[in-house]
Amino acid sequence: MLGRDPSWCVVGDSRRIAAELAGCVSPATLIRCGEPMCLHTTIGVGGPADVYVMPGGEADLLSVLGYCRTKGVPVFVFGNGSNLVVRDGGLRGVVVQLGGSGLSRVVVRGRRIECEAGLKLGTLVAAACEHGLGGVEFLDGIPGTVGGALRMNAGAFGSAFFDVVEEIRYVSTDGVVGTSPAAALAPRYRGCDFFVSCVALGAVLVLDCVDAAESALRLERYRQLRRSSQPSGRSAGCVFKNPPGVSAGRLIDELGLKGLRIGGAMVSDKHANFIVTDPGARAADVLALIDLVRARVLAAYGVELELEVQVVGHE
Ligand code: EPU
Repeated sequence: MLGRDPSWCVVGDSRRIAAELAGCVSPATLIRCGEPMCLHTTIGVGGPADVYVMPGGEADLLSVLGYCRTKGVPVFVFGNGSNLVVRDGGLRGVVVQLGGSGLSRVVVRGRRIECEAGLKLGTLVAAACEHGLGGVEFLDGIPGTVGGALRMNAGAFGSAFFDVVEEIRYVSTDGVVGTSPAAALAPRYRGCDFFVSCVALGAVLVLDCVDAAESALRLERYRQLRRSSQPSGRSAGCVFKNPPGVSAGRLIDELGLKGLRIGGAMVSDKHANFIVTDPGARAADVLALIDLVRARVLAAYGVELELEVQVVGHE
């Protein structure tokens, strides 16, 4: 969350802010008041966003961020909501979704792919395959965006997003747009601190030329692995980061916690590091279950599990 303390915003403010924002963006930008965030998170929980914005393109995004900076309105930017738990009280201020927005361009030039932050990872993988480029197959099936993958250094099957990123484009808290070599950002396992304050606008990836059959084979292998080991229902992916050298899922499973339930949230019986939800589940159910699992793991192994999912919003 950028900007000042979010506790100030009230409903009247939301309508005024929405109207003022509409005056500084193109008609391609979607603006709504009181939008339920449960509609925009893959785990399907979360209260209302005061003002929800889906920008029509980069210029509109920069206008929205500029407006919030000038007026001191807190702003929260997210991608596809696939690694996100929004509390039941929702989010104050302006909430900007890039997944599905106008920031979804992808351009392939030789071995390089230029992509905008709102591009879905599945579309990126498809574009790479279509052009005989490989190295991003591991991202297939992750329901996120390029921006989210940069923020989280998304990974699977021993690969991570920054393995293929050459350069990133960003906007800083003071509105300066810049580029940086990826190597200067010090990404780590499931995170890149640079994007805690800066918003990702896009990236240039460098991939390998691959044989189409070889690429299709890799894709099918990863899809099969995912299908056999991960649930397909509503979830936010893995809840906890793996502690060094061990799978959090295995630790939770060994304690017999698969199927453990609080309200509409349950520890997946397919992979114990996933929490799956029923329609109508509350964020409070998910968070209580997270606390319970964490306490059991701490008591049994003395290991403090660190959250991988991002938890935001008010109770
Ligand atoms: N295992 C169990 N029980 C479980 C889950 C796993 O015994 O309920 C065992 C498996 O049998 C295996 C080992 O634990 O021997 C590792 O399991 P898995 O291959 O599923 O990998 P993981 O470490 O649990 C990580 C990532 C996943 C990624 C997979 C595949 C993290 C926190 N998780 O899971 O990423 O898809 O590897 O590469 O790093 C995510 O980040 O949201 C995510 C799903």
